Amino acid sequence: MNPLRPLILAAAESPRLKRALTGIPVTADIVRRFVAGETRADLIAAARALLNSGRMVSVDFLGENTTDRNQADATVAEYLSLINDLAALDRPALPGIVVPPVEVSVKLSALGQALPVDGPAIATENLRILCTKAAQADVWVTVDAEDHTTTAATLATVRELRGEFPWLGAVLQAYLHRTESDCRALAGPGSRIRLCKGAYREPPEVAFQRASEVTDSYLRCLDVLMGGEGYPMVASHDPVPIAAAADLAAESDRGADRFEYQMLYGIRSAEQLRLAATGSAVRVYVPYGSQWYGYLTRRLAERPANLAFFLRALVSKS
Ligand code: FDA
Repeated sequence: MNPLRPLILAAAESPRLKRALTGIPVTADIVRRFVAGETRADLIAAARALLNSGRMVSVDFLGENTTDRNQADATVAEYLSLINDLAALDRPALPGIVVPPVEVSVKLSALGQALPVDGPAIATENLRILCTKAAQADVWVTVDAEDHTTTAATLATVRELRGEFPWLGAVLQAYLHRTESDCRALAGPGSRIRLCKGAYREPPEVAFQRASEVTDSYLRCLDVLMGGEGYPMVASHDPVPIAAAADLAAESDRGADRFEYQMLYGIRSAEQLRLAATGSAVRVYVPYGSQWYGYLTRRLAERPANLAFFLRALVSKS
């Protein structure tokens, strides 16, 4: 992991910094590189372009750590409208790929998980509302992974709803010590697991700290998922796991309909297109909305070179 990452993630929690940085318009290059825009119309234009380029999409309405019930309800309402709009998009044929090309990604903390009274139950109920709508629209839903204090509650919600919605996906973070065992528990038939490295600031008691340890853990987890009976979603821009996924798929005769690559909007687009051109399933995670601060600071922390662009945007604003 890059040495500046914990520092950037810690600094990002400062309210003063947040006030200064959120003054940057969403149109600034650094925001626009990673975020499709503030409105659903911006998002739909970006999703249409991605689908027309042979890639699939997973859309995230930005927002997290909601402590207000009205805000959680407003998030549910926005996701319901989003699912409607996504369902109306043309779906260009992708040879050999049978899964829904359109998905939404959702953070349970945006649906009320952190509310002081009955948070997890409220988030579960809100997710049930989204899944019911998504099932009618042939849109998939995957639940994002947040910081480690939420992992057990989030996986409990996913387990509960999978009875009704077996296609409901979950995200596992390879940097957590517990994840290899979670992969074993969740590699059963039809289970959709998005495996990522993990983007939060986590203590050594629960998470690997060195980049090489995280990559090694990712490869062990990937081995479990690709050898299992579920549907692995290989969420990484790192050439090492990407190549390992291709090798494991070939070994276990997993075709393009039985796993997919996933990358973030604005990162390694040429590699996304290269993989799609080989006939692989490639999905791009596309965020939109005005609450981009937390998402963007995680992207900056992953790659301090991005910070230079951000600082330039700040200077040009003042
Ligand atoms: P790594 O960080 O080693 O990067 C490999 C290469 O990718 C870099 O050398 C660089 O070329 C490029 N790259 C990576 N990040 C970049 C950036 N920000 N800007 C520019 N280039 C960059 N995390 C989480 O905790 N919970 C979640 O729910 C999700 N969900 C999720 C969905 C999807 C589809 C993806 C791809 C990722 C996530 N993540 C996530 C984020 C994930 O945990 C991780 O932080 C990033 O993907 C970066 O890790 P890589 O595996 O790409 O490797």
